[in-house]
Amino acid sequence: MTSQKVRKAVFPVAGLGTRFLPATKAVPKEVLPLVDRPLIQYAIDEAREAGVTDFIFVTAKGKSALENYFDGAPDLVRSLKAKGKTDLLAAIEPSNMASGAISYIRQQEALGLGHAVWCARRLIGDEPFAVILPDDVIASDQPCLSQMVDAFEQTGGNIVAAMSVPESQISSHGVIDPKGRNGRLVEMKGMVEKPDAQDAPSNLAVIGRYILNSSVMANLAAMKVGAGGEIQLTDAIADDIRHGVATYGCQFEGQRYDCGSKAGFLQATVAFALARDDLRQEFGDFLVSMMAISEAAE
Ligand code: UTP
Repeated sequence: MTSQKVRKAVFPVAGLGTRFLPATKAVPKEVLPLVDRPLIQYAIDEAREAGVTDFIFVTAKGKSALENYFDGAPDLVRSLKAKGKTDLLAAIEPSNMASGAISYIRQQEALGLGHAVWCARRLIGDEPFAVILPDDVIASDQPCLSQMVDAFEQTGGNIVAAMSVPESQISSHGVIDPKGRNGRLVEMKGMVEKPDAQDAPSNLAVIGRYILNSSVMANLAAMKVGAGGEIQLTDAIADDIRHGVATYGCQFEGQRYDCGSKAGFLQATVAFALARDDLRQEFGDFLVSMMAISEAAE
């Protein structure tokens, strides 16, 4: 049991988003809409539901649309109120942030996820903190970060979100070297970034949710360059394990979509649209007709 609370979350959003070019030449990946809400809104909602009160964005040049999204919109609110559009007022409500709850730090150069997280070190201080990658979207009954906070309150230490992946995907992820298991929690003896499938210690991949001790920030300060020539968060967590900090993979309940890839974004769009009462019928009928056309063409 730990009495420490996870109040702060870092959202590293300074990547170049090359898999979504040309769109990301002008529009940050994190504001691309999944049905009708930008990716970043799903991440913020998940953090709020897990008890986070301080939201720290690590941004870069070209991300102003993301910052603008969280600005107040008094003219819009006035106009919607005057027209009695209560449903639309409710739709924009989650993008309202309490004054002072949100901070923006710049990453001057895209040196890797670990470097982006390190840029937030002064705002984190010596508290445990969450890291959320907004392009990993997770559909679940209990939000993924909230499942991890429940686990953290029992174990302390570091917790990373983990899921089994097919062999063909192992080399795209950080991979867990497992020591033991307690239900959904896998205690780790190490972690490797993007191993070759034949050298991987397991098929348990780390995906974009973390609860970390501030000691990980201290490890990042070494600026160790890892896989792909980038400063990797995985390496700093692996250092913590070597220093004896208990670290667990949490096999969360839920379906993860890689919205940083085109196929993953399209899959998420279909799944989230079909989960919506206002879209299911019309969109479902459309999908059925598309399937019939494509089968007839084969
Ligand atoms: P990705 O590996 O998805 O990179 O980063 P990317 O630049 O966003 O997208 P692609 O691969 O070029 O299409 C994972 C997360 O880490 C952040 C990204 O913004 C994303 O949320 N990141 C990555 C940074 O903030 N800074 C970096 O230097 C690298």
